[in-house]
Amino acid sequence: MALSDNTSQGAIIISVFLLPILTYVLWQYIQQVESAGPLPSPTEITNLFIYPIKSCHGISVPSARLLPTGLDLDRQWMWVTYPNYEFLTIRSNARMTLIRPTYDASTDTMTITAPAPNSMDEKLQFSMPAHPSPAWLASNTSIVNATVWSSKTPAHCYSTALTGAFNDFFGKEVRLVYKSPTSDSPRALASNGAKKHLGRDASTCFPDLMPILIGCESSIAELNSRLQVAEGFSIDVRRFRPNILVRGNAPWSEDRWKTLRIAPPGGSSMLKLGFDGITLDVTQRCARCHVPNVDPETADEHERQPWDTLMKYRRVDAGITFKPCFGMLCVPRGDGGLVEKGMKLEVTKVTNKHRYITGF
Ligand SMILES: *[C@@H]1O[C@H](CO)[C@@H](O)[C@H](O)[C@H]1NC(C)=O
Ligand SMILES: *[C@@H]1O[C@H](CO)[C@@H](O)[C@H](O)[C@H]1NC(C)=O
Repeated sequence: MALSDNTSQGAIIISVFLLPILTYVLWQYIQQVESAGPLPSPTEITNLFIYPIKSCHGISVPSARLLPTGLDLDRQWMWVTYPNYEFLTIRSNARMTLIRPTYDASTDTMTITAPAPNSMDEKLQFSMPAHPSPAWLASNTSIVNATVWSSKTPAHCYSTALTGAFNDFFGKEVRLVYKSPTSDSPRALASNGAKKHLGRDASTCFPDLMPILIGCESSIAELNSRLQVAEGFSIDVRRFRPNILVRGNAPWSEDRWKTLRIAPPGGSSMLKLGFDGITLDVTQRCARCHVPNVDPETADEHERQPWDTLMKYRRVDAGITFKPCFGMLCVPRGDGGLVEKGMKLEVTKVTNKHRYITGF
């Protein structure tokens, strides 16, 4: 009797206490194997950048609304050729980075300035509503099909009464086009963001590929330590045009990010209000061209760096082996929300299956 009592007690202890623990440990182990290793510890958002006009100068902001299409006011405008409305970028014209947008929140106005040709102090300038109303757009713009890479998307083309002076800057006829983040004809994501890969419909305004690019300070610091040895200089992360900059974990550990959550720091009043954070799907690594060789403050283009250094060790994606990678491209889930410097970025899933799918 005593023996069988002990045995059944033992069985109870095992099933009540040990089994759940063992199951949990096993489950954690399976999760790690499936998801390619342990999750990095949470990191912090240290800067936010918007680039209102594609390929032009960026603005650092303390907070920004994250919309399904990207950060509000990011790449909602774009310069195009006339009469074909084909995108103009820093890739072929480094001087575009001298076109500076500034945002006045008190009047919700975007003012665009650029150095006037053949003048030291004169500036070209115009202002426009940062969030134009349908009525403003109807009376001040016309609809055209604008081309980004090989795909066309309907866009609002501004009158040259507003932007005409910028023909002098480009030395040819250009137009400014706008795409609303709530457009009736959204620009569907392609590449790894296409519905068959992402599993849902998602769109963006005028970024090359995805709504958001996240960069890590730890990785730019690692790259800079190599540039210091090779050339005796470092570069600013802005050359890579990220939207969200985080402190980061081990350099380049972001290569494995699969899903992320942006949440207020612990103890924040937003948490108490029930705000549970914003989830982002990381679609792929960002394969780079020569644009980071351009200094965004001066438009000077270095003939080798950082391209040469990156090519030596950052060709890490089997889907695009001829380009080096920096930063991770992301698509927000749901309606987004407000993102602020100081918020936490948690990696909720990692993968070793990222593979870049080309095509726009
Ligand atoms: C068109 O633009 C002009 C100049 O910004 C502005 O005064 C006018 O109100 C705009 N039209 C509408 C209907 O908003
Ligand atoms: C844009 O292209 C589509 C498809 O080719 C066409 O149906 C539409 O009329 C074009 N719109 C304009 C404003 O040219």
